[in-house]
Amino acid sequence: MERKPLISGNWKMHHNHFEAIQMVQKLSYILNPQDYEKVDVSVHPPFTDLRSIQTVIESDQMSIKLGAQNCHWEEKGAFTGEVSTAMLEKLNVSFVIVGHSERRELFGETDAEVNKKVKAVLKSGMTPIMCCGETAEEREAQKTEEKVKTQIESGLSGLKGEVVGEIVVAYEPIWAIGTGLTATPEDAQSVCGLIRETIKAKWGQASESVRIQYGGSVKSGNCPDLMRQPDIDGALVGGASLDPDEFARIVNYRLVG
Ligand code: 13P
Repeated sequence: MERKPLISGNWKMHHNHFEAIQMVQKLSYILNPQDYEKVDVSVHPPFTDLRSIQTVIESDQMSIKLGAQNCHWEEKGAFTGEVSTAMLEKLNVSFVIVGHSERRELFGETDAEVNKKVKAVLKSGMTPIMCCGETAEEREAQKTEEKVKTQIESGLSGLKGEVVGEIVVAYEPIWAIGTGLTATPEDAQSVCGLIRETIKAKWGQASESVRIQYGGSVKSGNCPDLMRQPDIDGALVGGASLDPDEFARIVNYRLVG
């Protein structure tokens, strides 16, 4: 099955709303309308930038999709500091990153919470980008398969096949994030293949349409080889997405290398 690649820029905690506007404007000047026919592109700025970016995207009719980096699973309530999926949906957010390793490792997010967030994002009509991936120690101890399989099965628990077929999974080995160490295309393919097999075993046909991104020190130089792998359908880009020229080269990976 033909799956349209999704290239997403996770800006993490970078750029205030003024800087964010400049970033997205610059990116849209560099990208051509034809680029979006081949690849879906999303940017995930901090919450405080979302309204400004939404306004720019809509007033200039850009094809860039708006994304968020996190959400809470409850619709509303006494959850100081949290943002609900209903609030994100009102800003025309399309994609929400859920269970990023930084949220899991630094803020103690569990598989059960990730599952609640995935469900809340879907209920609000948006697409979750659910992250998974192993630490260096887990890889060394040959626990990658077990870790990733558990994250997938728990994170997507209780979902119907037709829903799973529409979501995005991002495989981000933790040791490759922000380190300059990228998984080899073969290693990345091997885990992304395992993710698709895990989904196939539980949700059948959904495995053919689910999009699987690779993330972890993606740059324009290593992107083409990663994207050539049969089970890699896009990239979740951190550091390199902060430079619009470099991010645009990643979006146009077919033209590089
Ligand atoms: P880097 O591209 O900076 O390694 O970050 C990857 C990431 O965490 C994207 O979500």
